[in-house]
Amino acid sequence: MNNNSHPIGVFDSGVGGLTVAKELRKLLNQEKIIYFGDTARVPYGNKSRETIIKFALESVLFLLKQNVKLVLIACNTSSSIALPVIRQYFRIPIIGVVNPAVRESVYATRNRRIGVIGTRATISSKIYEQEIRRLDSTIKVFAQSCPLFVPLVEEGWWDGEVVEGIVRSYLLPLKENKIDTLILACTHYPLLKKVIGKVMGENVVLIDSAREAAIEVKKILGEENLLCLEKRRGEKLVCFVTDKSESFKKIGEKFLGDKIKEIYEIKE
Ligand code: DGL
Repeated sequence: MNNNSHPIGVFDSGVGGLTVAKELRKLLNQEKIIYFGDTARVPYGNKSRETIIKFALESVLFLLKQNVKLVLIACNTSSSIALPVIRQYFRIPIIGVVNPAVRESVYATRNRRIGVIGTRATISSKIYEQEIRRLDSTIKVFAQSCPLFVPLVEEGWWDGEVVEGIVRSYLLPLKENKIDTLILACTHYPLLKKVIGKVMGENVVLIDSAREAAIEVKKILGEENLLCLEKRRGEKLVCFVTDKSESFKKIGEKFLGDKIKEIYEIKE
């Protein structure tokens, strides 16, 4: 059976994964994307491991019902905690945002000192340390959770004095540890890239997990002969959410940098 024209499934705890959908659209503009945002249960970043795994399984099952050919877990928290457990249960490729960013960071570092920032759950999973050290055991990893970044970004506070102050206080320990590469391990952080770059200085390379994951998806679709070869008609981004609030559309369009035309609410 030829699955090339089937959509790519993307899921996230809420609206944040649209930063990943944006990168996917840049690289694979002929593909249709089915986006699932679990807006009724966001945030995942402070939930237990069991809950994060359960929610991820439900999200993948929903996307499979939409006939997707590949699932990209845009959420760093789910990629860190659920992906290693759930991957084995499915036949289609399921990709997370951790490994593409890890590979790029190992490639980018010159002084072998890498920083990682993410939600509390992502950081306490220690997956970034493990995966980086699996590639190069001589690398030192410094991790920091930044729980205020997600609400800041969702409120549209992407720059300015207050944001810079908060970013500075979270990132100071990483600066003091002289990292030269920093992984932005959360869907929302690309929107703070300008301020993070300013605080860390131009010698620190910022690794954007959204972009690296999109590159990985393109590579896997190519290897599996799953790239969409035909010209598509109709809307190419369809969003499903578990709670259809006004804010999903409003914030989502800012994250995506484009209009979202189709949003449907699903009820369990
Ligand atoms: N999407 C989550 C992540 O990338 C951030 C928001 C949340 O805590 O659910 O980790």
